[in-house]
Amino acid sequence: MINNNPGAKISAAAEMILASKRLVVFTGAGISTESGIPDFRGPGGIWTRFDPDDFTIQKFLRSEETRRKQWKILLEGGLLSNIKPNRAHLAIAELEEMDRLDCVITQNIDNLHQKAGNSPDRIFELHGNMQWVRCLDCGERYPVEHIREKLKNGVDVPECEMCHGILKPDVVFFGETLPPEVLDAATAHSMRCDLFLVVGSSLVVHPAAFMPAYAKEAGARLIIINIGETPYDSSADILIEGKAGDVMSGIMEKVREKA
Ligand code: APR
Ligand code: ZN
Repeated sequence: MINNNPGAKISAAAEMILASKRLVVFTGAGISTESGIPDFRGPGGIWTRFDPDDFTIQKFLRSEETRRKQWKILLEGGLLSNIKPNRAHLAIAELEEMDRLDCVITQNIDNLHQKAGNSPDRIFELHGNMQWVRCLDCGERYPVEHIREKLKNGVDVPECEMCHGILKPDVVFFGETLPPEVLDAATAHSMRCDLFLVVGSSLVVHPAAFMPAYAKEAGARLIIINIGETPYDSSADILIEGKAGDVMSGIMEKVREKA
């Protein structure tokens, strides 16, 4: 473990990135808070104000009240507004530009890695993406912008225009399985990488949170950038407590200097 000096840790992280042949970056909601989207378990996060047990797929289907709350969370979470990538997202896109990134595995549904410039085929969205909303009865798909207008005009539980069926965003709810092809690809990349960089995740939700373990089992080194503890802290080669935007910008300065 690198000594406690943040500057030394940032330099060491940059060295590891420069030496890596297969860097996988794994992101959580903490990377998007600086873009104005609340996280889930940090101070003031969504699950400190709503009960996650209320948001299983079963309850979403059964109760219009749950659907009303879910759409309210999505609206409040800024996921339906024009949110922008921040310095941490841009740093990860720059790593791809420098041909120093194998892929990004994200738990986020905000499309900010795409907006920052990472190629869609290098992004594995374990929990889906908010860009499309689907009718669970007839399968009709709507771009989220279309639904955003309805919600902004006071509709609090949008329904399908074709069949009045239940509309659900293309994201994974508690109780739903993750998209198998995405999970398989993310697992394979985690098992093949030589450096696994976590940015802004509490690493408590599975199967996503198995990814760092797969990487470690495959002999990869582990860097964690997070505010707050994670269950993987003791096995991190470098642990940096700090804001994703500041830390990733600091790392990229060093990477550019030495590249
Ligand atoms: N910089 C660094 N870390 C941050 C920042 C920041 N600017 N802002 C918040 N954090 C930290 C928080 O302190 C927290 O430890 O990021 C972590 C985010 O953890 P969670 O809120 O649990 O988010 P995440 O790990 O992505 O949750 C996983 O849980 O509810 C489900 O589907 C949801 O994808 C989500 C999954
Ligand atoms: Zn329909």
